[in-house]
Amino acid sequence: MCKKFVYGVAVSDYNFIGREVETKRLMNNFRGGINTILMSPRRLGKTSLVMRVCEKLKSEAIITIYLDIFGCKSEYDFYNRLASEILKQTASKQSMWLEEAKEFLYRLTPKISFSPEPNSDFAISLGITPKTHTPEEVLEMAEKIAIKKGKQIVVCIDEFQQIGEMTDSKHVQARLRSVWQHQKHVSYCLFGSKHHLMSSIFLHRSMPFYQFGDLIVLDKIPSAEWVEYIVSHFADGKRTISSALAEEICSFTDNYSAYVQQLSWLVYTQKEEGETVDESDIKQATDDLLATNEVLFMQMVEPLSEYQLNFLRALCSGVTKDFGLAKIREKYQLGSYSNINRLQKALLERDLIEKRGTELAITDPVFAKWFQRKMMF
Ligand SMILES: Nc1ncnc2c1ncn2[C@@H]1O[C@H](COP(=O)(O)OP(=O)(O)OP(=O)(O)O)[C@@H](O)[C@H]1O
Ligand SMILES: [Mg+2]
Repeated sequence: MCKKFVYGVAVSDYNFIGREVETKRLMNNFRGGINTILMSPRRLGKTSLVMRVCEKLKSEAIITIYLDIFGCKSEYDFYNRLASEILKQTASKQSMWLEEAKEFLYRLTPKISFSPEPNSDFAISLGITPKTHTPEEVLEMAEKIAIKKGKQIVVCIDEFQQIGEMTDSKHVQARLRSVWQHQKHVSYCLFGSKHHLMSSIFLHRSMPFYQFGDLIVLDKIPSAEWVEYIVSHFADGKRTISSALAEEICSFTDNYSAYVQQLSWLVYTQKEEGETVDESDIKQATDDLLATNEVLFMQMVEPLSEYQLNFLRALCSGVTKDFGLAKIREKYQLGSYSNINRLQKALLERDLIEKRGTELAITDPVFAKWFQRKMMF
């Protein structure tokens, strides 16, 4: 059975819409061996898009490798993950990948660790440490494999912002770039969220990954495409929603992909087969959306100082710039003039706010709605 609406995990096929232009651009880059950097706020659809492109290229003479490095806390965590995913996903026989691995990476001492949870996968760590392997040995491996197999390889690294959190991050980045930029048979698609981390890696002139490749900032999916998706998926489930009410789902969630799907699902579950959605269902579902996300939102505000909360309050009241003006600082109790930069920086680093041209805005539109209801006095 196809789920009508899916949120929180990467989507494909029936649940995937749009992204035609981006798909084409990525496919061209992957085919042409051009490195790509893909950025967007959280939950807009990076992983889904890259996975779709990998899927589409399956039949071609390109090997695409996908890995998520969210759990990698150190440089060598990353090398272990990178090496094992490259080896696994390029092995000619899946069951033999560890055997084949020894051809490309010497001195391996794989360790199998079983997860404490029953039924879940066991993990293999290749046992790569600074004592056994240099970073270059690991980083050069993909190129060797590509040459040996006579194929082009694209390595897609999800949650790449994690590299920016590592100790000595700039040196790690320099090591990666210095090897990767010379590879002729391997290209990279590096993507992630957390704007301040991603931009500190890719958009700063002094940083190793500056101008590493084609930079794509993923946009929201336009309302027209969402409306068509929502209306038709309701119809598939024998429920009816008007385009105008589907449009309301888009505007409440500001077209944020995961929220559009989540809110659509909440509306969908209000109705039985044969019924039609009305305005009160939308109202109920938006309340539910705020309620189900409340725990997360509470976690987001919990560490904030009173000044930082006041800054968000000012934003929610419609102030988007000139926070340093005396009358704004006084009205919203933002402290001294010199405090403003600090507040702004702290909130940007937490990804709670973002710059839109010369103005500031709250990043997550549903969080903004919740904040407005619960945190304004
Ligand atoms: N092309 C799409 N069509 C329909 N829904 C989508 C699409 N892309 C994303 N979504 C919705 O957004 C959700 C998150 O997608 P995805 O995990 O790909 O985003 P992401 O940008 O990688 O998120 P994160 O920043 O958390 O890594 C999906 O579960 C789905 O609900
Ligand atoms: Mg993702």
